[in-house]
Amino acid sequence: MSQAWNASQYINHASFVAEHGSPVLDLLNPKLGERILDLGCGDGALTQDIEQMGASVHGVDSSESMIEAAQKRGLSAEVMSGDSLSFHNEFDAVFSNAALHWMINEESVLSGVSNALKPNGRFVGEFGGQGNVGALVNAMTKVFESHAEFGEFVNPWYFPSVEEYKQKLQDHGFHIHYIELIPRPTPLESGIGEWLKIFSNGITKNLNPKQNDQFLNEVEYLVKPHLFIEGQWVADYVRLRFSAQKV
Ligand code: BEZ
Repeated sequence: MSQAWNASQYINHASFVAEHGSPVLDLLNPKLGERILDLGCGDGALTQDIEQMGASVHGVDSSESMIEAAQKRGLSAEVMSGDSLSFHNEFDAVFSNAALHWMINEESVLSGVSNALKPNGRFVGEFGGQGNVGALVNAMTKVFESHAEFGEFVNPWYFPSVEEYKQKLQDHGFHIHYIELIPRPTPLESGIGEWLKIFSNGITKNLNPKQNDQFLNEVEYLVKPHLFIEGQWVADYVRLRFSAQKV
C-alpha cells in the first residue's frame, strides 16, 4: 500500500494539518540552539515554525514531493523513511505531527527515534490514535466488502490506544511524561471528496477510474449522516498526543 503525495495539492487542501499543530509545538517547547529532528515533516510548515523559535531543525519525510516543498522554504530536509532512520545520538528532540500513523512498522520507527536521540532527549508528537477517522474507515471497509472486484481492503494506518503506545514507548526505553487521546472533530473546508482524494490514493491505487469514482461516491454517501454536520464536512479525528524522554 503506497500512498502518493502531491505537495501542492496538500498545501492547497490540507493546510489545516499544520494549522492544528500548535498544542504539540507547545509541548515540544523548543529551546534556542537545540537540534531537533522533524519526523514526517511534510511540506515543512511546522519545521519552519520550530526553526523560527530558535532551534536548528532537520526534516525527514518519505515523500520526494514533500521534501522538495520543504527545501523550497529553505529548510534542511531529506527523503528518509521513518522506519529506517539513520541517525545516532544527534538530536535533543524528535518531533512528529500527523505522520506517525502512516508509519505502520512502529517498532522500527521507535528504535530509530531512540537511536537518533542524545541521552535524555525528548520524543514529542501527535498522530491519529484509537478510533481516528473511524466512520471513514468503516465506510471504506464496507465499500470494499460490497465490491469483491476491488480486492481486499487493507487499512494503511496505525491508530494505537494510549495503553498500547505507552507500552511500546516504555519497551523502547522511554519514560512517559504525558500521553492522552484527544477527540478533535476537524472541519474540512475543501470537503470530504478532496480529503479522500488526498489521503486514500494508496487504498484505491489498484482500482480503475470507474471503480475509483464508485469508491469515492459510496464512501461519501455512507459517511454523510455521521460527518456532514450543520452544512459542513467534519472529519472524526482523534489525536494521540505524547511527550516522552529517552532514559
Ligand atoms: C490524520 O491526520 O489523522 C489522518 C490523515 C489522513 C488519513 C488518516 C488519518
